[in-house]
Amino acid sequence: MMNFCSINDVDDPLAWVEEAIELKKEIETYGPKVYTGKSMCLLFFNPSLRTRLSMQKAAFNLGIQSFIFNLNQEGWQLEFEDGTVMNGYTSEHIKEAAGVLSSYFDAIGVRSFASLSNREDDYNEKVFNQFVKHCTIPVINMESATLHPLQSLADMITIKEFAKVEKPKVVLSWAPHPKALPQAVANSFSQWAGQMDFDFVVTHPEGYELAPEFMKGATLEYDQQKAFEGADFIYAKNWSSYTDYGQILSQDKKWMIDQQKMKLTNQAKFMHCLPVRRNVIVADEVIDSEASIVMQQAAHRVTSANLVLRKLIG
Ligand code: CP
Repeated sequence: MMNFCSINDVDDPLAWVEEAIELKKEIETYGPKVYTGKSMCLLFFNPSLRTRLSMQKAAFNLGIQSFIFNLNQEGWQLEFEDGTVMNGYTSEHIKEAAGVLSSYFDAIGVRSFASLSNREDDYNEKVFNQFVKHCTIPVINMESATLHPLQSLADMITIKEFAKVEKPKVVLSWAPHPKALPQAVANSFSQWAGQMDFDFVVTHPEGYELAPEFMKGATLEYDQQKAFEGADFIYAKNWSSYTDYGQILSQDKKWMIDQQKMKLTNQAKFMHCLPVRRNVIVADEVIDSEASIVMQQAAHRVTSANLVLRKLIG
């Protein structure tokens, strides 16, 4: 059995990018497959637009039936600790829940965001890893506490599609946000970008350093303007502090991506995983410009989901 938890489950990331593009063309040419008899559960602890609907669309493309379960609103409160006397607010143990779901479906996708209150629990993937441990079917990461690999695969496909040079300069730039957000997208993007043939630069204010394990292959540049010079892709994202865990250390508006900064680049394409706060993370003049490829990037969420589902449940 194979899971899709992170890039560590991918034997050759670049080959996956190329295969996903081929599969997209195949589906465009031949249309969706007829129902295969396979089914999967998409289990959400948190909201979603792209992940939920791109997974459902990919399932449709491959002839797989998908079932949505918004566990926090519709399910029993799950217990994740072993040996607990369950006389409190939790009603069902993960062992039974995972076992039952495994008996119904051929795969399960799980979305479980970081708490941002306990770094050790979040970075040990306390919730997501319990599904991996107790499910007997493939488990797909639909954004866990620390990673969002379906998004990152879509990001790599998008860069491959738009790159004009063999080794593009790709810049991951922190940008301000009023709420504390997890590091998952930034961690995962860095993990994937670091394994591609990119000149990969991460820029953020001091105090926003990502966990060192996600910075392999990346150059850190605290000066955002310097980082932008000659860039082919600007990937904007907010994240809260890893070192001062879950805290907002800066809301400096000077870090917003605007046209003036984009002029420093090599006519870079603008990327963001969405949802994005306009005129906080990015100015309208950038996201509405020709440089913005956020729509193509979001469309490739289906491309990445197609491939992951085909690999896991055919
Ligand atoms: N980028 C992304 O995962 O979007 P959703 O949160 O809407 O699924």
